[in-house]
Amino acid sequence: MTTLPQLGTNWSELRDRLRQMKQDDYAWRAGRLPVYIYHYTEELLRISQEAYTEFFTENALGRTAFPSVAKLEREVIEMGMGLLGGGPRAGGTFTSGGTESIFLAIKTARDWARKEKGIDCPKIVMPVSGHAAADKAADYLRMDVVRTPLQSDFRADIELLQAAIDERSCMVYASAPGYPHGVFDPIEEIGALAKKRGLWFHVDACLGGFLAPLAREIGYPIPAFDLSVPGVSSLSADIHKYGFAAKGASLLLFADREHQKYQRFEFSNWPRGAYVTDTFQGSRAAGPIASAWAVMNTLGHAGYREIARVIMDAKERLAAGIEQINGLRVIRPSDLCILLYDSIDPTVDIYAVGDRMGEKGWYIGKSITPKAIHIALNPVVAPALDDYLADLAACVEHVRNTK
Ligand SMILES: Cc1ncc(COP(=O)(O)O)c(C=O)c1O
Repeated sequence: MTTLPQLGTNWSELRDRLRQMKQDDYAWRAGRLPVYIYHYTEELLRISQEAYTEFFTENALGRTAFPSVAKLEREVIEMGMGLLGGGPRAGGTFTSGGTESIFLAIKTARDWARKEKGIDCPKIVMPVSGHAAADKAADYLRMDVVRTPLQSDFRADIELLQAAIDERSCMVYASAPGYPHGVFDPIEEIGALAKKRGLWFHVDACLGGFLAPLAREIGYPIPAFDLSVPGVSSLSADIHKYGFAAKGASLLLFADREHQKYQRFEFSNWPRGAYVTDTFQGSRAAGPIASAWAVMNTLGHAGYREIARVIMDAKERLAAGIEQINGLRVIRPSDLCILLYDSIDPTVDIYAVGDRMGEKGWYIGKSITPKAIHIALNPVVAPALDDYLADLAACVEHVRNTK
């Protein structure tokens, strides 16, 4: 067990040890890790780090103590609302990540349903492809979740969603796009359903929120999914994913900021008086806010458009390369940045191919349903794709020839 040392060690030695510890991590800079890391250029990373460090010590809980942080946060939220269809009534909160944004959306819907609909222990209805964070939140918040099967194209089946709604339901939840298959649920149809049935509708755009609008700008057919869609109540979009900010950066946006009263926690029954927070966290790092602000202002629409082009080109290049490999098939549809592929050769087990790729230093994501390999594209992966495809072809042959 590690104990606190009696005496301190000098920083240069500690820094060497920190760097040493990373030696066995996947080589993300070499494009071998297509999850967890979102990296564009070394220059953008440096800007993000410097902005983070500028606000390393400040605390985003202290809005009156740090008007600078409050201003940065407001500007980031406003830029997000502008990108994601927020109208004049929209509002939002900067959170620590997708999980916190989703948690707060569900908490808001729960308290809204309690107050405005008199439902005590409300239920969430969602397609099975929705992120696990929704069930995590429901577990913490003592709510029930009903997950409905998908259509054959992996999108939410509206009939099944509709059939699952009952008098205890308060919320429908859908993804734009979902992590498991990378496809958009039919947000407009679900919005119309939510409106008709008087339900809260949360759109999880954690993954695609900062990529999809730009992919649309460069000509990809991205369906309507944002706050401007009638019936959408809230939307989550992570700036620490395709927004390329430091981790700890997400937005929870509301079509009507009036609803944020159900998000808020207000308390005064202790000796220090009123304690009011919009987030799960109390003390909050200001670094991610400054990073998000700096990265968004560095890139602008033009920069994010260029990133979208790099990602979508890489996906098409990867898909074409996989289709060239005997025995493999790209699973479609794939709307944005995620690609799944499987084996159509009974002598080639796709998980065995994945394991072999893992031995060659590639971090491989395995999809359970369908049985496939799952890869998320981002710019740091793009230059490694030729090597990836060469290794993939060799691994398929190896598995085919190994009994
Ligand atoms: C669609 C979607 N929602 C939510 C999340 C959870 O985000 P986080 O890991 O930032 O909490 C993810 C993460 O990949 C996601 O892809």
